[in-house]
This record gives sequence, C-alpha cells and structure tokens, in this order.
Amino acid sequence: MKIAVLGTGYVGLSTGVCLSQIGHQVTCLDINEQKINQLRNGISPIYEPGLEELLTANMEAGRLRFTTSQTEALTQTEIIIVAVGTPQGEDGAADLSFLVQAAKDISIFINQDTIIVIKSTVPVGTNDFIKKLIEDHCCFKVKMVSNPEFLRQGSAIEDTMKADRIIIGSENEEAARKIHEMYRPLHVPVIVTSTKSAEMIKYASNAFLATKISYINEIANLCEVVGADVQDVARGMGKDKRIGEAFLNAGIGYGGSCFPKDVKALLHTAGAYGVKFPLLKETIAINDYQRELLVLKALKRFGGLKGKKIAMLGLAFKPETDDMREAPSIPLSAALTKYGAEVVAYDPVASENARKIIGDSIKYAGSIAEAVDEADAVLIVTEWNEIKSIDVAEMLTKMKEPIIFDGRNCFPEETIRACRSVEYYPIGKPAIII
Ligand SMILES: NC(=O)c1ccc[n+]([C@@H]2O[C@H](COP(=O)([O-])OP(=O)(O)OC[C@H]3O[C@@H](n4cnc5c(N)ncnc54)[C@H](O)[C@@H]3O)[C@@H](O)[C@H]2O)c1
Repeated sequence: MKIAVLGTGYVGLSTGVCLSQIGHQVTCLDINEQKINQLRNGISPIYEPGLEELLTANMEAGRLRFTTSQTEALTQTEIIIVAVGTPQGEDGAADLSFLVQAAKDISIFINQDTIIVIKSTVPVGTNDFIKKLIEDHCCFKVKMVSNPEFLRQGSAIEDTMKADRIIIGSENEEAARKIHEMYRPLHVPVIVTSTKSAEMIKYASNAFLATKISYINEIANLCEVVGADVQDVARGMGKDKRIGEAFLNAGIGYGGSCFPKDVKALLHTAGAYGVKFPLLKETIAINDYQRELLVLKALKRFGGLKGKKIAMLGLAFKPETDDMREAPSIPLSAALTKYGAEVVAYDPVASENARKIIGDSIKYAGSIAEAVDEADAVLIVTEWNEIKSIDVAEMLTKMKEPIIFDGRNCFPEETIRACRSVEYYPIGKPAIII
C-alpha cells in the first residue's frame, strides 16, 4: 500500500519504518527540515535501539522516503497516518494545534478521497472534529480511523513489530478493513471499536498505568515507615495474574512525553463532562511528591544542602532514550540548586537534550567517575544498565562521603552489604548503613 506518515517523531518515525519493513511504500513528512535532512542521510534524530538499521535498510530497498513537501507526501496517497504531537495545553487539556494544522495541510493537498488514520493521542471526539475540519476545506471525502499508539520509547521498534494489540476505531467499515489489511503482516491481535472507544482506550490505558505506578509508590512510602520491603511486596503482588508484574517498580515517579500529559488530559475531559475522577487527582499528587522525594531524603540526612556536591546519575526520563520530556531529573535539579547544592550530572545519551531544558544551573559530566568525584552524595535517577552495573564499592572510594540515594532501587542488598562503609537509601525499603 502507498502510505504517508505525517509527523516524524518517536511515533511517526517508528510507524513509518515498521510499515516499510513489512512491505508498504511509505513517505514520511515533517515540517522540521533538519530532521528530514538527517533522516535522508540515514541518521535517526532520536536514540532508539534498532531504529537506524531498519531505517537505512528500507531506504536502500526503495520503500521508505522522507520529505518536507506536502505535495510529495499527501497527493495520490490512499492512507495518511497522522502522528503529530499533542502536548499539554495550559489548562491541562491536550493542545490540538499541531493536529489542526496537519488537518488543514491535508485538506489543501489531498486530491482524492483518503483514509485518515489518527495515531496521535487525542481526546474523545477529535476524529469527528478533524473529519469535519478537512471536509469543510476541500471537495474530497475522508474516512477516519482512530488508531492509537502504545509503543514505549526505548523499545519502539520491538513494540511496533510485536505489539500486544492494534486498536482500530472507525465508523466506516471499509476503512477499518483496509487498515486491518495494512497491519496484517504483523500478525498482531486487532480490536475493532467505535472511534470514540478507540480514543478512550488510549487514555484509559495510560491513566491506568500511571495510577499503578502511583499506587506502588504510595505502598513504597508506607513500606519505608513500617519496615517492609516494597520489592518483595511487588513480587508477591505481581505473581497474582489479576495484578501482573509490570509497572510495580517503586521509584521516583512517572515522567516522559505521555503519562503526565495524558493523565491530565483525561482529567480535563472528565471535568468537561462533569465527572470529578478524584482517583486521577491523587495519581498526579502522589507523582508530584515522588518526583522530589530524593531531595527530601537528602535534606533530612544533611540538614541542608548548601555547598554540597551532589552527583546525579541519569537524566533521561527512563533508560534507552534521550527524551527529557517531564523527566524527574528536571524538578530534582531545580530543587537541589534551590537549596544551594552543586549538581554534577551524568547520562549516557541525554546530556545534550538535558542542557536545553535544565541549562547551565548544573554541570554535565562525561562519565560516572567524573560525576561522583568528591561528591557528598549520589542520586540514582535513571536505571540505565551502565548505572546498574556500577562497581558500587569502587565508586564510594571516589566520593567525599559514601552516601547513595537510590531512586530506582538499582543495587541488590548483597552488593551494598559488601561495601566497607556506606549509607544507602533506597525507595520503599529499609536504609542500609554500614
Ligand atoms: N512518544 C511516545 O512514546 C508515544 C507513545 C504513544 C503515543 N504517543 C502519542 O503520539 C503523538 C506523537 O508523539 P511523538 O512523541 O512522536 O511526538 P514528537 O513531538 O516526537 O513528533 C511530532 C512530529 O510532528 C511534526 N509535525 C508537527 N506538525 C506537523 C505538520 N503539520 N506536518 C508535518 N509534521 C508535523 C513535528 O515536527 C515532530 O517531528 C502524540 O500524540 C503522543 O501523545 C507518543
């Protein structure tokens, strides 16, 4: 099939690459010229394992092209997949301005009836609104398909090629069948629903996962005061098939480009329809507290942080990505510097993106060794493999004081107990002080 993907970010690029991999002719369109130039040279603008190899292979096979030209991408195309950003607006609602612009572009450049697949995360009712917007501005008919995306950054390719399910929401049977056909080579279970249900499935899923994280984090905070171990508790809970093991890792809260904004957008939708949804308010409140927890622990330990050198290991919102959107390292850096600490951070890939957001209020080290040198304490913020496999005993010898606040419970108890002198403060487990 001939497919255009509009918006070449994490979702659009992964989708375009994977659809070309299963044999479709894909043209990816983006307004960001620098991004398209990079992609044309076979360079991925995002860090995503396995992406670049598939990108170059499919470009060489002639199935994948990149362009900034709407004419090239949107005319004579039977399917247009829209994957532009839907960031958080000021009032918490999803900001649909990129989508509205994309719809206007589509209405100008299509020259036949077209299937429009909305992959961006959008509030209930958006597909109907976009259909009207396009048809009001052109003389062709569009068939809408809501096809929300569930990939995780860091495993985007694997998640797309081996998705748990594909949701196809449409009021138009023929369009739903066509999109089902498009995905058939993936052999992934497909659930066909109404457009509104498909739109809701995405928000309901993300808000559920965010709530699961806040739930286990609140259990962790309780574990700490009663003397239980949240990792054992999670293991015991997760084996129950009704609960499941995923998303029970206590830590310093969820971040990233999706959960924070999607929970707020769902709350906004609920409010707009007069539904209060206090559960979501608590999910957000717990997460806000959790994101600064390491600073609260450090303040309790030191009394004050003025002049303390704090090494922050990990900046990205999660491992295997350089994405800094809503990363806990952002509020942590702000709080630490507010209390007068000198922060030296290290991340295997996200430092450059972090500098654009956090700026020069903190220093960026080129290695773990450089970050921890003479530090008063280390904060573990992202559970990169490189950080999990640190030789903890050796790291402690480089520090001024052997103090670790581990926001991701990266180190087994035996590793810590094997250290000669250490103060180790994990999440939801008793501290180890030797
Ligand atoms: N990132 C994720 O892990 C993820 C997972 C599931 C769903 N989603 C959802 O998918 C959507 C896209 O997310 P993302 O992270 O890929 O966004 P992103 O910000 O990384 O990429 C969006 C891209 O769209 C481009 N764009 C904007 N307007 C355009 C236009 N008129 N024409 C062409 N290109 C245009 C931008 O230049 C940008 O490259 C969002 O709704 C998001 O909530 C994201």
